[in-house]
Amino acid sequence: MTHVPKQEVLRRARADSSRSAAVVSGRTEWNIMAAGRLSFRNITALAPMVRVGTLPMRLLALDYGADVVYCEELIDIKMVQCQRVVNEVLQTVDFVAPDDRVMFRTCEREKDRVVFQMGTADPDRALAVARLVEKDVAAVDVNMGCPKEYSTKGGMGAALLSDPDKIEAILTKLVTGVSIPVTCKIRILPSVEETISLVQRIERTGVAAVAVHGRFKEERPRHPVHCNYIQAVARAVSIPVIANGGSLDVVKTNADIEHFRRATGASSVMLARAAMWNVSVFVSEGPLPVEKVMEEYLKYAIRYDNHAFNTKYCLCQMLRDKVESPLGKQVQAAQTNAEISAAYGLHTFCRHVQEQQQTRRAALQSGGQSERPVMDGDVTTVAVKFERRNYPPQITPKMFLLEWSRRERVEQPLYETVQRSQDRGFQSTVTVAGKRFRSTLWEKSKKFAEQAAAVVCLRVLGIPEGRIGEEDSGLVCKRKRDGKTNGGAEQQQEQSKKRHLGDVQQETQSSATPALANGDHREADTPPEQAQP
Ligand SMILES: Cc1cc2nc3c(=O)[nH]c(=O)nc-3n(C[C@H](O)[C@H](O)[C@H](O)COP(=O)(O)O)c2cc1C
Repeated sequence: MTHVPKQEVLRRARADSSRSAAVVSGRTEWNIMAAGRLSFRNITALAPMVRVGTLPMRLLALDYGADVVYCEELIDIKMVQCQRVVNEVLQTVDFVAPDDRVMFRTCEREKDRVVFQMGTADPDRALAVARLVEKDVAAVDVNMGCPKEYSTKGGMGAALLSDPDKIEAILTKLVTGVSIPVTCKIRILPSVEETISLVQRIERTGVAAVAVHGRFKEERPRHPVHCNYIQAVARAVSIPVIANGGSLDVVKTNADIEHFRRATGASSVMLARAAMWNVSVFVSEGPLPVEKVMEEYLKYAIRYDNHAFNTKYCLCQMLRDKVESPLGKQVQAAQTNAEISAAYGLHTFCRHVQEQQQTRRAALQSGGQSERPVMDGDVTTVAVKFERRNYPPQITPKMFLLEWSRRERVEQPLYETVQRSQDRGFQSTVTVAGKRFRSTLWEKSKKFAEQAAAVVCLRVLGIPEGRIGEEDSGLVCKRKRDGKTNGGAEQQQEQSKKRHLGDVQQETQSSATPALANGDHREADTPPEQAQP
């Protein structure tokens, strides 16, 4: 790895948030991606950790040089109930449970680096979850190492290790069902031979890599890691093996990552506790003072509206034996991110960020927000609410869009509508001339949702939408003249010529704003795979 001075690491990370993960670790986009897919060869990863691996920690790990970041394990049954929501205020994508809790929050910045880890014992459900998150993450992983009863009694986690047929069914379903790489994380079996035979079977399913935690399922985090098992596995398969389990007795600093890689003969290394205690362990020059790391973590937690409970949990892990210090006590007593910030002297920063978020939220709610289009996959989105009172009776944006598409001789607009369970809200996507448009806001009825989608399309294309005050536009004139032919059509055509679909799409892409902030309201409810030693 190239050595980059510490200050430079941080400067670059802040200056170019969209590519920093690759830059700070000295690796390039080119060698982390292979054929447009995330490669697990020769990487250093933040391990999946319940409560710890939420967005602020993942982004900080990327800043400090991790190549790949795993999210905390999320259970398939909960994930399948989630709705994917674009959060305009934070510029994140949230997966929201029916009770409104954000189960998984991610953002553009980590899209090519984040691995979504799920707990599952069911191939169909696993596939449904993988498809739900597929376009927002770089890979999906199945946890096959959790020894906790809550996991094993449902046939998940380490229970899978004794059911290789189930492992094969889940992985095969995922590998054939999604376009992103699939990986899994296992613990070692009682003998080297059994472990090798299982990993060879896993390899045959077509997974991109396998992470091996070098402990038996009965072993606790305090037990030494069995590097010889990982080494034997690494020799026996050709997919990348990611060595894990070295935080306690091997990896103390960044240089130890390489020792662990060598000791295990693995292609890659994954760190859990060493990163939880001080995530700057990924900095090649050596770790930063944990006080600095806590501050940086807290800034991300505020920017991404991380749940205060989760913020506190992570800071307490970093404080370690100082958790009973005056600072530790202040953190423990705090109930909000603002109160936690006060303990770190970051209250002004916190107030400023929260005010910005509030302003943006208010603008979105009032409908007076910036109507800058943002790409959500292949859909152009704008936050638009359909207000009936803004249009004359019998005139709607949908009519205008239909009229325009006839005139342009493109296919009639096609509306697809979904309803979310938490508030029965509707959201429509309209397809016009092969391009898709949607409002990010949810409407009370299907009719309104379709009108909002039509408004987005018309506004993005720069076509009149029939609002009061636009009476000169074609359709209103046509209606007024009661059946007379296309009055005002030329004017509309003139306007529509100004912006063609292709141009608009391009403009939209280039104006899409970079990630502003992110966070997790989730109160982590799944216990960690292992208690802290
Ligand atoms: C707080 C905490 C939470 C964890 N949560 C998960 C998890 O969600 N999924 C998982 O596969 N492993 C989980 N683990 C296990 C770690 O990923 C890792 O396998 C283990 O800690 C050994 O690695 P280490 O020596 O680097 O800590 C967790 C570990 C800790 C300490």
